[in-house]
Amino acid sequence: MKLGVNVDHVATLRQQRQTRYPDPVVCSLLAEYAGCDSIVMHLREDRRHIQERDLRLVKKAIPIPLNLEMSVAKEIVEFALRLKPYQATLVPEKRKELTTEGGLDLVKNYNKVKKVVERLQSKGIRASLFIDPRIRQIKYAKKIGASNIEIHTGKFCDAKTVISKKNELTKIKEAANFAKKIGFFVAAGHGIDYENVKPIAKIKAIEELNIGHSIICRSVAVGIVPAVEEMVGLLGKKR
Ligand code: PXP
Repeated sequence: MKLGVNVDHVATLRQQRQTRYPDPVVCSLLAEYAGCDSIVMHLREDRRHIQERDLRLVKKAIPIPLNLEMSVAKEIVEFALRLKPYQATLVPEKRKELTTEGGLDLVKNYNKVKKVVERLQSKGIRASLFIDPRIRQIKYAKKIGASNIEIHTGKFCDAKTVISKKNELTKIKEAANFAKKIGFFVAAGHGIDYENVKPIAKIKAIEELNIGHSIICRSVAVGIVPAVEEMVGLLGKKR
């Protein structure tokens, strides 16, 4: 199980006061030192956290893959094509949301997403699609020609009862198994923390978890290196 650390919220703190610190680039270097496998950054259309400068520096300075989360907005796509990160993960984006609220609807947005995936792939960028754990969405991801999917785990993480947690976990498991069987590299993420990670980490078809908020929150108390190391340990990874 690989761990991608999303450092968006380091930049959220910085942007709050328009200071130079804390720096998501420094935290990315430390997260890599602590044993994560990739760095995830979301360049939002409103630039509420990550800025172009952060992405350029991380791409140059950090020896592990950079996974750029992005919408299909024209100016963001143009930036991604110039940056050429190792991977781009397409996500839906709404200006007013606190965080990404759900997966892409690939049925509704088939043409738009396919066009962006093809453009990214033509520059050698791996394209991943962030989708809800639904077989229909996975079939459309295949039709679109993406190599990777990321399954949205938010509903599982937010579920309040044992039954709903179990139901959401089953959906994730079934979706991951189906996606793996038809050849996808399967990642998962959103809302994962130190308490709820174990059952997701046990799903063999999932090869990577992308985790941000919980790690950055813990790092405020203990520092980014111990916070990442602890998550690395929970994923059963050896350093
Ligand atoms: N994966 C995707 C596609 C996301 O949009 C996010 C949030 O930016 C994450 C993973 C990480 O979610 P969290 O911050 O809740 O761990």
